[in-house]
Amino acid sequence: MLLSRIRLPWFSVFKAQVTTPTRLQRSCAPLASKRWQHTPPNPSPCTWKAKEDCFELKYGGLVMQFDYVWLRDHCRSSSCYNSKTNQRSLDTASIDLSIRPEKTRVDDESLFFTWPDGHTTQYKLDWLVQNSYEGQKHSAMHPRSPWKASSYTRADVRSAKWDKFLSCDQELKLFLSNFLLYGIAFVEDVPATVEATERLTQRVSLIRETMYGKMWSFTSDYSRGDTAYTKLALDRHTDTAYFQEPCGIQVFHCLRHEGTGGRTLLVDGFHAAGQILQKSPELFEILSQVPIKHEYIENLSDHSNHMIGIGPVLNVYPWNNEVYMIRYNNYDRAVINTVSQDVVQRWYRAHRELTSALRDPENELWVKLTPGKVIFIDNWRVLHGRESFTGLRELCGCYLTRDDVLNTARSLGLRA
Ligand SMILES: [Fe+2]
Repeated sequence: MLLSRIRLPWFSVFKAQVTTPTRLQRSCAPLASKRWQHTPPNPSPCTWKAKEDCFELKYGGLVMQFDYVWLRDHCRSSSCYNSKTNQRSLDTASIDLSIRPEKTRVDDESLFFTWPDGHTTQYKLDWLVQNSYEGQKHSAMHPRSPWKASSYTRADVRSAKWDKFLSCDQELKLFLSNFLLYGIAFVEDVPATVEATERLTQRVSLIRETMYGKMWSFTSDYSRGDTAYTKLALDRHTDTAYFQEPCGIQVFHCLRHEGTGGRTLLVDGFHAAGQILQKSPELFEILSQVPIKHEYIENLSDHSNHMIGIGPVLNVYPWNNEVYMIRYNNYDRAVINTVSQDVVQRWYRAHRELTSALRDPENELWVKLTPGKVIFIDNWRVLHGRESFTGLRELCGCYLTRDDVLNTARSLGLRA
């Protein structure tokens, strides 16, 4: 089985790393003092072999194989690449697909090629390590720390504070660092209004407008065709699985609750997926390959919507087998008609295994949301639900565009 042979870099703890200078300039404690120290790679001898179909390089503990067209395509000389715009100038379609270098030279830091037309290319050896397939398949795209309830509680993750969150880049950076590692993060002491909640989210990202609007606020008034608008318990799920691109981040703020119950349930889907992978790689593979439809059909006088999203339950990067999105919503899952009966049978087994892991009480983190405490949830990773409640409960929130949240994190020097 393919998966059992693949190393799993994503399923271990990764620390956020500083990679770029900060863009935002709001000051408090100096950011530089908190930077992770970058350890330069040990200098190691470099050897190479120009093979018939690829260029093989041994360096930094790796044996890397590069395609010759790839090497020509990734020339970073000024005529091939605009370093001001970080865009390729070279027309890839103009490269001879049987191209080979005429001359090759390597020194302590770089590889040099001279191509048949006389053009020369210099590749930094460290750049080749970072950008080779062999380098990528042993590293994670996203830093993360999969958790179960006890490990998250033990981590004692600090909540951000409203005032500092708005005024201080260091506070925002710490918040985003926690969000990237755990898939959830809190801000406290927020005024219990829709306006304050909106202001808070705009510090992080653009709001993603959907058919529910930009900022939404609701009570259990059955105003929309969704169980969320009732007082019933909601089993764990990710939202908007019925979008082609499910919403990236969800924000909740309980503005008031006069009654009992209503705690929020949080489950780290990546942790559960990792458990499946360790226990039954073949079931993990089915969940990552079988396309599943989710659907939202609403026919109310004011709202008429029909959304369809298609994708596997576990979305993984094929080069390193890292899960980057879980799409799990039993309420909105549509008819399964994309695979044959024998696959359906195995899919139900895999789904049952994943559901058991997601329902394991050890994996359930229960949180009482109170006025002033805003939670950000990575909707591509952490499932949410709630227990039933009594009394009036008013909740507001929104979805955020994932690209913009990650962009803010990167601009603060985080690896995202
Ligand atoms: Fe939901």
